[in-house]
Amino acid sequence: MNIKYVNKEAIIDNVEKFGFANIEVGAEVDLFSEIEKIKKEKNAIILAHYYQEPDIQDVADYIGDSLGLAQQAEKTEADIIVFAGVHFMAETAKILNPAKKVLLPDLNAGCSLADSAPPVAFKAFKEAHPDHLVISYINCSAGIKALSDIICTSSNAEKIIESLPKQQKIIFAPDKNLGAYLIKKTGRNMVLWNGACMVHEIFSVEKLIKLKVRHPNAKVIAHPECEEPILSLADFIGSTTGLLKFSKSSEASEFIVVTETGILHQMQKSAPNKTFIPAPPENNCACNDCPHMKLNTLEKLYLCMKYELPEIIMDEELRILSKKPINRMLEISAHYNL
Ligand code: 13P
Ligand code: SF4
Repeated sequence: MNIKYVNKEAIIDNVEKFGFANIEVGAEVDLFSEIEKIKKEKNAIILAHYYQEPDIQDVADYIGDSLGLAQQAEKTEADIIVFAGVHFMAETAKILNPAKKVLLPDLNAGCSLADSAPPVAFKAFKEAHPDHLVISYINCSAGIKALSDIICTSSNAEKIIESLPKQQKIIFAPDKNLGAYLIKKTGRNMVLWNGACMVHEIFSVEKLIKLKVRHPNAKVIAHPECEEPILSLADFIGSTTGLLKFSKSSEASEFIVVTETGILHQMQKSAPNKTFIPAPPENNCACNDCPHMKLNTLEKLYLCMKYELPEIIMDEELRILSKKPINRMLEISAHYNL
């Protein structure tokens, strides 16, 4: 039995924020079995992104990339969706499920990429390009989604761009690195918003080259949110699900993984005899751990399921406007069987 001590700070933080009553500070709780119990009692489902800590991945009902998570959120029959990920992901689940309760263990779990596109500035940018269609990466706020024509993720972006007529002018937002990668892949000249993910921009080319020299047989697998000099060193580029599938099916036995380190948990589980080496960041910190994703902990997950807080609440007008481009993404993805 895995007993975890309920951390005093985590509880006090939540008491202050949400006024939870009657919390037994310092109580010993078997978080894994309690979470399973609450899931059944409340007909709740836990959807987790690969960047979550291993304990959270292990209690999740579904673990996936942004597209998979949105598809699961759309089809679930659970009454409560507990989103172990960041705010834009839980918000997307709420946009698709207005009648369901959507919970996020820590409301501060944001995203540097989503923050790099404030809706007011983006609206002006869009107005400066009136004949352009807007494709936005799902890593953005509902405000940006409402200003977009189609949403995409790293696993369907190429297909979505290619499904549009060749002469269609396109704005791609908010990730300039993914945008540049897609321009190269599709040959389409898109106008890019100048946003980026702090985690995927931290990798060091110099250290990666040195690591490759030390591991000559290792395949370098990278997420397309990385900058071009890093991507040019990669043997395979894909979404988190794409990287996981590649590492499982590839004949190689060693991989240098250039994305957030949370994905290594599933890589190691699906191929226990293979070796996965996290790519080194520029400095000596653990900067390739997403500080937003890692705000969620098993304790906070348990507390949020127990007290059904914090909950994602949305303005209905914004929800309706932001749902249209998500629906377009889901329709195109279904058409291509993605
Ligand atoms: P995917 O899991 O869709 O590849 O996205 C990666 C990411 O950065 C999510 O925040
Ligand atoms: Fe946002 Fe980057 Fe963290 Fe993903 S890894 S949630 S894009 S900051």
